[in-house]
Amino acid sequence: MLLNLYRNITEDGLIVSSSGFLVNNLVSKIEFTQPLKILEIGSGRGAFTREIIRRMCDRSELDICEIKADYNACVEPIIADHPCKTIRLHNSCILEFLTTPESYDVIVSSLPLKNFESQKDNNAFLHTVISAVKFSLKDGGRYLQYQYFKSNQSDIEAIFGKPMNHVDFVPLNILPAFVYNMTKGSDTARG
Ligand SMILES: C[S@@+](CC[C@H](N)C(=O)[O-])C[C@H]1O[C@@H](n2cnc3c(N)ncnc32)[C@H](O)[C@@H]1O
Repeated sequence: MLLNLYRNITEDGLIVSSSGFLVNNLVSKIEFTQPLKILEIGSGRGAFTREIIRRMCDRSELDICEIKADYNACVEPIIADHPCKTIRLHNSCILEFLTTPESYDVIVSSLPLKNFESQKDNNAFLHTVISAVKFSLKDGGRYLQYQYFKSNQSDIEAIFGKPMNHVDFVPLNILPAFVYNMTKGSDTARG
């Protein structure tokens, strides 16, 4: 059990799955009234996945990119419960997956950005991941990311070339979390 906890923290950047409060805060920022192409990165056991699928309309599409196939046993049944919806689960590193520009209206990321910081590569991997997210968003598309510490807000702002639209604080989560809300390009009207 202690080994599992250690792995959760060091590999996944996670102690337990995200709380309903955090999931609701983040997912409520998505305008589900219109058909959307959505990407979820780092689904883990599917805390966000379940709610995104429940709220998305049948004409929306969801890609899920999770590096660890170990979690498929949790996520596949959630997908199977919604046979009318277009949902694809991919097991790969997000950098291998994100190769097409301007593909998504919304990217929801649970990536443990802080774990990607490394003096050895001068944070090159971290910056490549954030750049790949920007590359794959449509103009005006929305990047939603949570983080336990506000450590990488400035990295995201530098790469997107603008300040965050909003940063929310959600105390009722283990650990308390910040939710970053960034739109690509000059369209900040969506808030
Ligand atoms: C903090 S956990 C979040 C799990 C779940 N979304 C939640 O909030 O409860 C981060 C997830 O990102 C996945 N992950 C880490 N690095 C990744 C990468 N390079 N590409 C895709 N997924 C990655 C981990 O396997 C883990 O499931």
